[in-house]
Amino acid sequence: PRVIYITRHGESEDNSTGRIGGDASLAPNGVCYAAALARFIDRRRSEFANEVEEQNQRLVHFMSGGASSENNSEPESTSSHESRNSSSARYSEFSSSVHKRVRPDFEIWTSMLKRTMETAEHFDPTRYRIKNIRSLNEIYAGKCEGMTYEEIARQYPDEFEARQLDKFYYRYPGIGGESYADVVLRLQQVIVELERIRHSVLLVTHRAMARTLLSYFMDIPTTHMPDMELPLHHVYACEPRPFGNFLRVWRYDP
Ligand code: F6P
Repeated sequence: PRVIYITRHGESEDNSTGRIGGDASLAPNGVCYAAALARFIDRRRSEFANEVEEQNQRLVHFMSGGASSENNSEPESTSSHESRNSSSARYSEFSSSVHKRVRPDFEIWTSMLKRTMETAEHFDPTRYRIKNIRSLNEIYAGKCEGMTYEEIARQYPDEFEARQLDKFYYRYPGIGGESYADVVLRLQQVIVELERIRHSVLLVTHRAMARTLLSYFMDIPTTHMPDMELPLHHVYACEPRPFGNFLRVWRYDP
């Protein structure tokens, strides 16, 4: 039982002015979201720990015969008392190994851009392992970095139109410019690692990255993926279930 949480960074100075790419810091609204996000995840984490604790208690109760009528009618004799004592020792050992398996670390992965690292600043580093991963950086818009969509449409109308016609394969012009198809490749290692580890992770990342990650976990076709509505200040949680993942969404309400 683990959860993969995905969120975009808090609102940045560039979001406020409609500029794409760049490496801006958080705007005041974004800072409020960052603080609320840490409180929200802390709360989810302790609720989850309580659920696990209850589950473990039920397991221990069940394993120690609490559910069987045979046990209820057991006579109070010295020998049965001894045998109950020795069994409860065994069961508490079992219970502690369950704890180890289901209550592991919680990691926070950000990109290497300021807006995601600042969004993770409110987490207590003694309780969360925080990693900054370059592959989680936003899609790189090449020559169009730092421009608004209106400026791109005016200065590079052919590029603007080409992107609208095939957003998944369209690659931004200029050195390092990327397409969604490039981003999918760039994220492969991150996805392999996410599949490998067994504990919960919060990914604090960007719009194109969140689209790519969610489309992977929720099986959304690449034809829809680049247009998914993923507003700022929402948390998406993918919970693995036997026949696929279950998605929950929370919106920050300031
Ligand atoms: O506007 C925020 C942003 O994260 C940009 O940095 C990025 O280029 C863009 O969103 C990705 O969204 P789209 O692919 O819809 O342009």
